[in-house]
Amino acid sequence: MAGAYLLTEAMLAPMTESFASGYAEKGVIAVENGAIAFAGAAEKMPDQFSSLPRKSLDGRLVTPGLIDCHTHLVYAGSRAKEFEMRLNGASYEEIMRAGGGIFSTVEATRAASDEQLLSGALARIDRMIAEGVTTVEIKSGYGLDRDTELRMLRTARALEQHRPVRVRTTFLGAHAFPKDMTADDYLTDICLPTLEEAASEGLVDAVDGFCETVGFSAAQMERVFEAAQRLDLPVKIHAEQLSDSGGTQLAAKYGALSADHLEYLSDDGVTAMAKADTVAVLLPGAFYALKETQLPPIGKLREAGVPMAVATDSNPGSAPMTSLLLAMNMGANLFGLTPLECLTGVTANAAKALGLNDCGKLKARMRADLAIWDVTDPAELSYRMGDAPLHKRIFGGAEC
Ligand code: NIG
Ligand code: FE
Repeated sequence: MAGAYLLTEAMLAPMTESFASGYAEKGVIAVENGAIAFAGAAEKMPDQFSSLPRKSLDGRLVTPGLIDCHTHLVYAGSRAKEFEMRLNGASYEEIMRAGGGIFSTVEATRAASDEQLLSGALARIDRMIAEGVTTVEIKSGYGLDRDTELRMLRTARALEQHRPVRVRTTFLGAHAFPKDMTADDYLTDICLPTLEEAASEGLVDAVDGFCETVGFSAAQMERVFEAAQRLDLPVKIHAEQLSDSGGTQLAAKYGALSADHLEYLSDDGVTAMAKADTVAVLLPGAFYALKETQLPPIGKLREAGVPMAVATDSNPGSAPMTSLLLAMNMGANLFGLTPLECLTGVTANAAKALGLNDCGKLKARMRADLAIWDVTDPAELSYRMGDAPLHKRIFGGAEC
């Protein structure tokens, strides 16, 4: 399939505002020049498309290509030893305070060559592509020095040259600060100058930070957000993952695209997010891996109309996973999201969390990034475990 063509006999999950009317069966998608020209019921298709070559999907489900809107896909090293320590009762914070956790990945990432960083990331992104992912957000944050932060971002961007996938890069220099510096000195001397340099190289789509007792305070995060604002870059935040540190309200004040994790989010945080239209990015894989028991306030987010996304948080410590479908399953089983909320969370709302308005929905003028599934019920995407019923993936109109 290439050029202009029609996909027919499809069950469509358009993920548009009018989606409440349900999945369109006997749906049709017209693809032209890498974009969707029409998506909807066969009888509503304008005549102009009827002469295009057709391919029947025999009733298969078509969703927008999946979007993993929060990952740390570029890194080196393994944290399997820490996994064993955690199984024996050590907490994530304890391990980090003792110099492990993020710091152990920083050490391995600094020591890795560009080729090693690229090949590790390619292996992980291949597993995502095999599950219908077409867009991936990737953060820096395992360098904590100028050179390694820049290398991480360049490696993330280079993935697009090697695979049919779209990458959005997020600068996460404020992930942790080196043991021999204060947080403020690290921001002044390393993190913020590196952000400026990365932005001037065009390597940054958004700016993120870890607001936490073992990370940066809200006041320190504000310095990062002010710098992002000066560079005209949108912000995101890792917030309220281990405690309520107030990062979400701060991020909302800066019009954040998303606040992510949110297990300890307060009522004021929910209200601030609703007001700022900030997406709640839920990361049930990290919740599961850290054996967290505090659930994010899903009911309150839902009630307040805060858009919710679901992502893997793929990283070597708190979420050693690459399966977005498994994250959907965990979103439903652990967080109580409906299968439709899970699907919206990896399509339309994931696009919103990245500030993208050309993907995540099946409608005219969107990129033709599609996932075609061997399932008869859309809920199967959340219900199956460790199983990827992908029939085909279409990226920019081309099957691959
Ligand atoms: O999203 N919370 C901070 N950052 C990552 C974990 C990074 C790591 O442990 O390596 C997260 O969970
Ligand atoms: Fe993360």
